[in-house]
Amino acid sequence: MYTQDQLKAMVAEAAKDEVLKAMAPGGILGVGTGSTANLFIDALAPHKDYFSGVISSSQASTERLRKHGFNVLDSNAVNAVPMYVDGADEIDPQGHMLKGGGGALTREKIVAQLAQSFICICDASKQVDVMGKFPLPVEVIPMAQAQVTRELEKLGGRVTLRQVKDTNQTFVTDNQAWILDVAGLSITDPVQLESDLNQIPGVICNGLFARRKANILLIGEAQGVRRQIFN
Ligand code: A5P
Repeated sequence: MYTQDQLKAMVAEAAKDEVLKAMAPGGILGVGTGSTANLFIDALAPHKDYFSGVISSSQASTERLRKHGFNVLDSNAVNAVPMYVDGADEIDPQGHMLKGGGGALTREKIVAQLAQSFICICDASKQVDVMGKFPLPVEVIPMAQAQVTRELEKLGGRVTLRQVKDTNQTFVTDNQAWILDVAGLSITDPVQLESDLNQIPGVICNGLFARRKANILLIGEAQGVRRQIFN
């Protein structure tokens, strides 16, 4: 039986192989954020010269990539990338994802939008039939926090302003904004909910990746890594 960390390491390794096989040398890769993405960055580090550059979805990933010697590019300088590799907090049977547990959802969505193919890497605990057990992160402009909270409550959510772990300080994103974590939603129509939440004034972005879902899933299971393609 593998531990969760071993499963993450296995999918990180599989993603490295996937990227090196699918991409021509000298291309630009999109790189995600989180503990699984970190393992992917480390697995890819010996091959950094294979790429002309990478685009990163957070300050934390940028720092890690730079330490390994990757050439981290400004996303404004790139029109498209062939692949984006990132983890997820939940993924449903259609490949819709819930992300943002690490608070990087907005930049993740920006980089994912540039990608022709989204490769989701995660361990089996992330696979769900209906998303929403993991609280849905919503990034907000601080001055709209109270009114966005009221709107989210109307949808049946229990809303918490994210704090820095083990402190009473408000968590601040790379974009100098705040995160509302919305528990208690049963997300049966993620495409619609993603759009609806984006209509609330003050919402910067929400953690549903349904309109731009995963194309390929590499999932770590008891039997090893399983690869699934979504249409
Ligand atoms: C970061 O904001 C998130 O979207 C992560 O991609 C997601 O939380 C998965 O993280 P782990 O790989 O740490 O589980």
